[in-house]
Formats: sequence, C-alpha cells, structure tokens
Amino acid sequence: MRVQEMRKLVRLRAVELDGTRRRLAACHDVSDLRRVAKRRIPRPVFDYVDGAADEELAVAANVAAFRQWRFLPRVLADVDVVDMSATVLGSALPVPLALGPAGYTRMLHPDGESGAARSAARHGLPYTLSTMAATGIEELAAVAVAGGGSGGAAVAGGAAAGRPDLWFQLYILKDRSQARDLVSRAADNGFGALVVTVDTVVAGNRLRDQRNGLSIPPELSLHTVASVASKPGYWLRLLSGPALDYANFAGRPPTTIRKTADFFDASIDWSDIADLRSRWAGKLIIKGPLGPTDARRAAELGVDGIQLSNHGGRQLDRTVAPADLIAPVREAVGPSVALLVDSGIRHGADVVVALALGADAGVLGRAYLYGLMAGGEAGVDRALDLITRQFRTTMQLLGVTSVAELRKRGRELITREPR
Ligand code: FNR
Repeated sequence: MRVQEMRKLVRLRAVELDGTRRRLAACHDVSDLRRVAKRRIPRPVFDYVDGAADEELAVAANVAAFRQWRFLPRVLADVDVVDMSATVLGSALPVPLALGPAGYTRMLHPDGESGAARSAARHGLPYTLSTMAATGIEELAAVAVAGGGSGGAAVAGGAAAGRPDLWFQLYILKDRSQARDLVSRAADNGFGALVVTVDTVVAGNRLRDQRNGLSIPPELSLHTVASVASKPGYWLRLLSGPALDYANFAGRPPTTIRKTADFFDASIDWSDIADLRSRWAGKLIIKGPLGPTDARRAAELGVDGIQLSNHGGRQLDRTVAPADLIAPVREAVGPSVALLVDSGIRHGADVVVALALGADAGVLGRAYLYGLMAGGEAGVDRALDLITRQFRTTMQLLGVTSVAELRKRGRELITREPR
C-alpha cells in the first residue's frame, strides 16, 4: 500500500518535536513516569527517591494497603457533573491533594522545588517546602508567586491565581534557635501551614544510598564518573544551575548528607509540639505514623491537622501502612481535625480510598517526584493531571458526584479484598 492510499485510511498525527513533551505525553500513569525517570536519571539519584529504609518492606506495604480495597459501585447515578473540590484546613482545593516535602529536590532536576511549587500553584494545590530543601524559604516564596497561575493544564479554583498555598515542613533541629529562626522566616514569607515531621528523630537506614555512596552535594567518585558517561544530559542540566546546597541554612557552614543526621534531635517530645503551637499562628500539622492514642494527644494540644505518614518507608521499615491508620485515627480524633495521608499514593483511586476511609486529602511524594525526574516542571504537571483525571473517573464509575458524598458514604462504597 502506498503512503497516499494509507493517508485515506488513517489520519497522521502531528509529530511532537519537543522531546520532553513527547516523553511525557507517552506516560499514562505514575509507573510510566517512574520508568522514564529511571531511564534518564543517574542511578544514585533515582535510588535516593525510589529507595527506602532497610529491607524496603514498608514502602511496598504502603502501596499494597491502598490496593487491598475493592469498590462497590452504585450504577445509574447521573455522574455527568462531578464536584471534586474540597475544603482542607480552610483552603478551597479543586481536588483534595497536596504536594509533600522532599529534601534536596533540585538534585532531581534543576526545576526543583520552584518548579514543583509552580506546578502545584497552577493546579490550585498546596506545596510543602522541606527544611532540607535545595531552595530557600525566601527564594521559593518569591519564585512561586511570580510563576503562579500561569496557564498550563490547570484545574480551576484553589489558591488565588499567582498566590500559591505554601506550607513549610519543619524538622525540630538540635539547635532550637535555628528551628525557631526557620519558623519565623516561614511566617514572614507567608507560608500558611507548618508541617512538623516527628518520625525523623534519627536518620533512616537507607541502604541504597549507602551502597551507591550517595553524597549531598554530589561528589566526584568512580560511581559519579560512570554515571556522567551514561547520563550526560542530567549532568549538563545540573551543572547549568546554581550549586546545590541545603538552602535554608545558607550562610552557615556547608554540610553533607552524612552530616544531616547531626541536625535531628532524638530528644524531641510533646512539649516541643506545645511550644510550636504557642509560636505558630497558622495551621499546624503533625506528620508521622500516629496511632489513635498519639493522634488524640496531638488533637488535645491544638494541632489543626494530622498527616498520617511513615515517610514513604524511609524511616522505620515495617511501620504500619498509613492507609491502615485512617479509619482508627478518624474515630479517635473525631471530625474537627483535618486528616491527611501520604505514603503509597500512586493513583487517583488511592485518594478515593483514603477519603472513603475518613481522610480529608491525600499528599503526594514520589508520585510527583517521578514526574519531576521524568520531565522537570512539566513532568509534575503531568503527574498531577494524571492523578486528578484518575480521581475523577474513579468517582464517576463509583457513582459519586461530590467529595462530600464520598466522605459521607465512603464505607458503603469500599470493601476489603478477602485474603
Ligand atoms: C521525602 N520525605 C520527606 N519528608 C519530610 O518530612 N521531610 C523531608 O525532607 C523529606 N524528604 C524526602 C525526600 C524524598 C526523595 C522522598 C521520596 C520523600 C517524605 C515525603 O514527604 C512523604 O512522606 C513520602 O514521600 C510519602 O511516601 P510516597 O508516597 O512517596 O511513597
């Protein structure tokens, strides 16, 4: 058959000349983004994101915990119009999602924290900056404001155009004056929520990082030289941007990943949360694997939200999957405390399950970081668009037309798969 004859039968699709856009358009779920990331990013950097603590049992169990639920759809429910919006911690979100904190995000791609925050802002979603970020509090506040609300495949609503909803994640540092300084800088720069991570009293035992000899900032070693040869594009991009550092500690002596453990304080206790509550006027969220008893205690101290998390399995391996804590913690704290959940969300259907079990929103970690590694800021857009689309379709096929209805009738809509 000649080309001319073929053209009568099939329409030729325009060729996408931009390599990144072409690659991202060929990704149809988070696993596709992960596969592309793995191909393009040097092994030690990919493993820094993909890896977890010790035998990596928790990270696999986190994903499985969301997937053990089966849907019980209601048919003929007129799902033509679906309202995915939700009010979370006083913010109206177009979809109940937020982007979680990740240390050293700029090592994954030069768009880094700023690109992720811009993408979050375009989608009307909160972005959480890590204490250990490679972009500083002041820089992120400025960059994200400048870039917010600029077109893209945005979901309408959420944060006002140009003014992203920024949250700051705090590690309570050994040097408390340094921690207090971070908190006041976050307040001064308009961060609306403080997310206090309580599962990092010591550094997690991340074997992939140890085996790969990962250092932050990356150092020239035999490993690095080999990966320069195999992934030159990554290194060119990295070297074209500003030097990597723990930007929130700029002006202080430089540090390395080996020394990050020195930041953390194994002696933190509940009085630190009470102290932060008295200092921080914005929303206060406690992030960690809180069971019902700890969750009740946090609520009594006046936290606004609990982010159920086992750090994506990167701290204590074998920690219970946060998905399994949603229902008991909701029962323990009642309806007034916002319940967020991270660790294991890879699909919009996971967010549906989380809400059906009693959560207010899902928080993404690796799901958007794979996107960032696959294609920078546009890759984060792709991850958010895919998960949002999956969330909508799952709601429609389940026969629910609003997040409020999903929250109210959730337990009738899911059943645990028999083992
Ligand atoms: C993290 N996480 C994290 N959490 C935190 O409180 N402060 C931090 O600096 C970091 N840094 C970080 C780096 C990387 C590369 C990853 C993957 C994760 C944990 C993160 O906020 C979230 O809890 C997990 O990522 C959730 O698990 P999943 O969904 O990514 O498996």
